[in-house]
Amino acid sequence: MGECGVKQSVLHAIEVGYRHFDTAAVYQSEKPLGDAIAEALHRGLIKSRDELFVTPSSSAATLILTLFFLLYRRLSKAQFPFKPDETLVMDFESVWKAMEECQNLRLTKSIGVSNFTCKKIEKLLATARIPPAVNQVEMNIFWQQKQLRKLCEEKGIHMTAYSALGPKGTPWEGNNKPIECQVVKEIASGRGKTAAQVCLRWVHEQGVSVVVKSFNKERMKENLKIFDWELSEEDLQR
Ligand SMILES: NC(=O)c1ccc[n+]([C@@H]2O[C@H](COP(=O)([O-])OP(=O)(O)OC[C@H]3O[C@@H](n4cnc5c(N)ncnc54)[C@H](OP(=O)(O)O)[C@@H]3O)[C@@H](O)[C@H]2O)c1
Repeated sequence: MGECGVKQSVLHAIEVGYRHFDTAAVYQSEKPLGDAIAEALHRGLIKSRDELFVTPSSSAATLILTLFFLLYRRLSKAQFPFKPDETLVMDFESVWKAMEECQNLRLTKSIGVSNFTCKKIEKLLATARIPPAVNQVEMNIFWQQKQLRKLCEEKGIHMTAYSALGPKGTPWEGNNKPIECQVVKEIASGRGKTAAQVCLRWVHEQGVSVVVKSFNKERMKENLKIFDWELSEEDLQR
């Protein structure tokens, strides 16, 4: 989808009530997201930028990571998905120090990590002066991340889930999608909900926030209707 399409989708999302946006240099969504926020402010859809959570924000922290990414791409000339011999080991300690400096300089409100396992979290915490505010990882009914959730809770790190429904048309797409699971479909039809709503509600009930992607306005609305009902104990067990 081009910049214009992304901008329109973000505006639709803000209109229907979304307030948390996940962006990255690799998605090329930073500029259209910024343009959409400017227009949302201009149109009065939001009163202030403070009403939105943007991850990662357009800050020096992002800049540092973007530079790392560009350097990495230049060195390896690799295409996604990367082959094992095309990867470089990142010096997390130095990157984290630089990110802490960004927070100290108030260039960003908070700093976090993504795809960090328990081992990486422990390693980071051993030298970090500011602990990560958030760890964004893949989490869904099939990959429940129980151990990681327990550790993050103990350490006061909020978790955000991605691929809660199962990605579509991406290099990391799998065959086993949560929204196509028969049990989920049965729970959904018994409650008058959709399979997507059941998958998202399950993440929400684990105390984890979720970033879900849709370019479709109706599905955007559908995915927000998960806050006024609950899964039963039996649903959770199934
Ligand atoms: N940190 C990381 O390493 C990382 C990795 C992957 C993703 N992410 C972030 O997480 C976001 C979401 O992850 P994701 O795209 O992998 O997975 P996802 O949000 O679980 O699934 C997205 C797919 O589901 C479809 N969909 C959305 N709502 C639906 C509904 N109600 N019914 C049926 N289909 C529906 C979408 O298609 P339509 O657009 O056609 O609705 C889209 O193809 C990404 O956009 C990205 O910001 C982060």
